Amino acid sequence: MSSHNILFVTSEVYPLIKTGGLADVAGSLPAALKGQSQDVRVIMPAYREAMRKAEKLGFASFRMEGVPETVRLLEGRLPGTTVRLYLVDSPPHFDRPGGPYVDPDGHDWADNAERFALFARAVTAVALNKAELDWQPDIVHCNDWQSGLVPALLAPYPKRPASVFTVHNLAYHGFFEATKFHSLKLPSHLWGVDGLEFHGGLSFIKGGLVFADMISTVSPTYAEEIRTPHFGHGLDGLLNHRAERLMGILNGVDYKQWDPAKDPHVKYSYDAHHMVGKARNKQQLQAQFGLPQRTSPPLLGLVGRLAEQKGIDLVLSIIPELVKHDVQLAILGSGDKHIQTELQQAAKLYPEHIAVHIGFSEPLAHQIEAGADMFLMPSRFEPCGLNQIYSLRYGTVPIVRRTGGLADTVVDASDENIARKAATGFVFTHATHDGLWGAAQRAIAVFRGQPQVWQQLIANGMRQDFSWKQSAKHYLELYQLALEKRQS
Ligand code: ADP
Ligand code: GLC
Repeated sequence: MSSHNILFVTSEVYPLIKTGGLADVAGSLPAALKGQSQDVRVIMPAYREAMRKAEKLGFASFRMEGVPETVRLLEGRLPGTTVRLYLVDSPPHFDRPGGPYVDPDGHDWADNAERFALFARAVTAVALNKAELDWQPDIVHCNDWQSGLVPALLAPYPKRPASVFTVHNLAYHGFFEATKFHSLKLPSHLWGVDGLEFHGGLSFIKGGLVFADMISTVSPTYAEEIRTPHFGHGLDGLLNHRAERLMGILNGVDYKQWDPAKDPHVKYSYDAHHMVGKARNKQQLQAQFGLPQRTSPPLLGLVGRLAEQKGIDLVLSIIPELVKHDVQLAILGSGDKHIQTELQQAAKLYPEHIAVHIGFSEPLAHQIEAGADMFLMPSRFEPCGLNQIYSLRYGTVPIVRRTGGLADTVVDASDENIARKAATGFVFTHATHDGLWGAAQRAIAVFRGQPQVWQQLIANGMRQDFSWKQSAKHYLELYQLALEKRQS
C-alpha cells in the first residue's frame, strides 16, 4: 500500500496510561505502521497521568470546529518512538486522579458518556482537518467503545476519511441511558436500531459497528466467535449483517518491551540458549511473593484483570488440587473486589503455595513472566490475549483455554504435536474445574516426569515470532479495503 495518513484513536496507550492489552497494542502498532512508511498519528484524551508521563508537550491547536473553545489539542511524541501524539485536553473531563474509565474506588466515572463524546467530537474535527493542523488523515482507525462515536459522527461528510473500527473486547459496549443521547446533543438521525440505539439505550460501540467502513477484531477465531450468540453480547446479528466487512487480525507484540534477554525489569537475563537466568528469576519471584524458595514445585504465574472474562473462578476451583500436588501459584491482578477477596483468602489459607499481589505493576508483570514455569490463562473468552504470547517468549509454558486468540497462538502438547516439535503449551476446551485441572495435570506431569519434552516445549515457544511485522501488513490491507468501501 502506498503511504497514507492514519489517525489512530485510542483511550489508552503504553507507556502513558494502561489498564490492559489495548494500551500495549496502541503503544506498538502505530510504530510498526510507521515502519511500513505510513504517516500515523495517535490521538488520546489528556488524562492527568498521561500528561505527567508525556515528554515535551506543545500546543497543537486551540480551536476545533464543533468542539467547545475551552478544549485544546496538545502535541508530543509517543515515548520511545517517532510517532506523533495528540492529546485532547479538557481539564474538567480528563484532569483528575484515578483511571481512564473508573474513579479511585473502581466505579465507572459518572460522566463517561460526556467524556468520550467530547473526545469523539475532537477526533472528528481532526479527522475532517478542522483542527488547525493542516493535516488530513486518509484513514481514521478507532478502537473499542470509547472511540465508537467517531465513525458515526463522520458518516454524513462526503469528503471524510475512511473509517476502521477495531473491537478489542465486545463485552464492553459503552452503554448509557437513552436520555444521554439527547443531553449529548447527538445528531437525531443517529437514533434508532439502525443507529446507536440498543435495547432502548445508547450504545457507543454501535457507532463503530454500524458506521465504520471496515471492522476488525484482534484474532481470527474471535472474529468467528463474535458472530455467534454465545460470544456476541447481543451484537452477533449486526456483525453477521456486516460480516463482509469484518476481519480478524491477530495482535502482534513488542519484543523490545517483552524479551527476557533485554528486559530491564528482569534481574537475570536469559535467552533460549542460556536459560540459567530463568531458574534464578524463579527464586527471586518466590522471594518477592513470600513463597518458599524451592526448586521442585512447579511455579504457576497469572497476571490479569480480575474480571469474569479471565476465568479466575476456575483457578480458585483448582487451588486444593494445586496444593495437594505441591504446586506454587503467584498471582498479580486487580479488578473485581469479590474475586480479590477470594484470592486473598486462598493465599491466607495456603501461604506455602498460593501468593497474591493485588494491584497494577508493570515490573511485577514482567517478573512473573520471567520467573514462573507455567502461565495460567483459562479465559472464558479472550479476543486475543497478550500474556500468553509474552509467556511463549519468556519460556513460561502457557496453560490456556481454546478460545479467541488463545486458540490461535498456543499449540497443545498432544502426542502428535510433541512428536512434530510444534507443541508450545497446554490447551483445554471446557470452562470447568475438570477442564482446567485436566490441562494443569498434564502440564505438571510433563514438568516432573519428562524433562526433555518440557525443554522442547520451552524451546518451541521461545522460537515463535508474533512481532507486528505480519499483522501490520494485514492492517494495511484492512485500510485499503476501507478506502475502497468508502467509495462504493
Ligand atoms: P486484557 O486486555 O483483556 O486485559 P491482554 O492479555 O490482552 O488482556 O493484556 C493485558 C495486559 O495488561 C498485559 O500487558 C498484562 O501484563 C497487563 N496487565 C494486566 N493486569 C495487570 C496488572 N495487575 N499489573 C500489571 N500489568 C497487568
Ligand atoms: C482486550 C482483550 C484482549 C486483547 C486486548 C488487546 O482487552 O480482552 O484479549 O488482547 O484487548 O487487543
